Amino acid sequence: MSLTADARQLFTRRPDVYARFIRAVRYPQGLRAFWRASPLLHPGLRLLEAGCGTGALTFALWDAAKERGIRLDAFDAFDLTPAMLDRLRASLRRRRIGDIQLAEANVLHRDALPDDWRNYDLVVSASMLEYVPRERFADALRGLRERLKNGGRFVLFVTRRNPFTRLLIGRWWQSNLYSAPELTEAFRAAGFSRVHFPGFPFAARYLSAWGHVVEAER
Ligand SMILES: C[S@@+](CC[C@H](N)C(=O)[O-])C[C@H]1O[C@@H](n2cnc3c(N)ncnc32)[C@H](O)[C@@H]1O
Repeated sequence: MSLTADARQLFTRRPDVYARFIRAVRYPQGLRAFWRASPLLHPGLRLLEAGCGTGALTFALWDAAKERGIRLDAFDAFDLTPAMLDRLRASLRRRRIGDIQLAEANVLHRDALPDDWRNYDLVVSASMLEYVPRERFADALRGLRERLKNGGRFVLFVTRRNPFTRLLIGRWWQSNLYSAPELTEAFRAAGFSRVHFPGFPFAARYLSAWGHVVEAER
């Protein structure tokens, strides 16, 4: 079975376990703290999220924008796994949010997204590219870079490699793990410039044990 099919199967079986796990480690709160402080959120933004899952990053962005009085122009999001998208749709309905468009798509299939999902100011992704085969990682980044307008930014939250994540995320959640030099190399190979690692703000510093934040420009 391919890694992609494995990922779909994993998240089809465990959407609820995943939701409970991220709540327990205060991951949604950490992502929200990041966006509360980020200068990359501004009015009129066109935003694409890759691998939205049950919406931890989706709601972090949505809530931070709302709190800061920032009106987004577009918010589109996609994921590979229908079970995760169903859960996110239900949460969006519960919160009466109708402005986020969702699609089922594989990040490795460049033409899988609607044709007008282009020219984004900001593309974001959290905890998804770990499920792309290592040798296709830069390819996936390249495809997402193509969706950005010139000067657009990409922000990636991704699991770092250390003994703690190897056990908790690598084994349990069957994902790849990355070091900062590997990420820098992949972003450069995908054509990005100004690759840097801003880190988590003080309120979310506990997430540094888990992951890297990578920001880059198209
Ligand atoms: C660990 S969850 C992260 C979900 C969400 N971004 C978050 O941070 O909570 C990984 C998600 O990536 C999705 N995924 C895995 N491989 C993918 C691929 N090739 N294309 C798109 N989504 C993928 C899975 O379906 C799953 O919803």
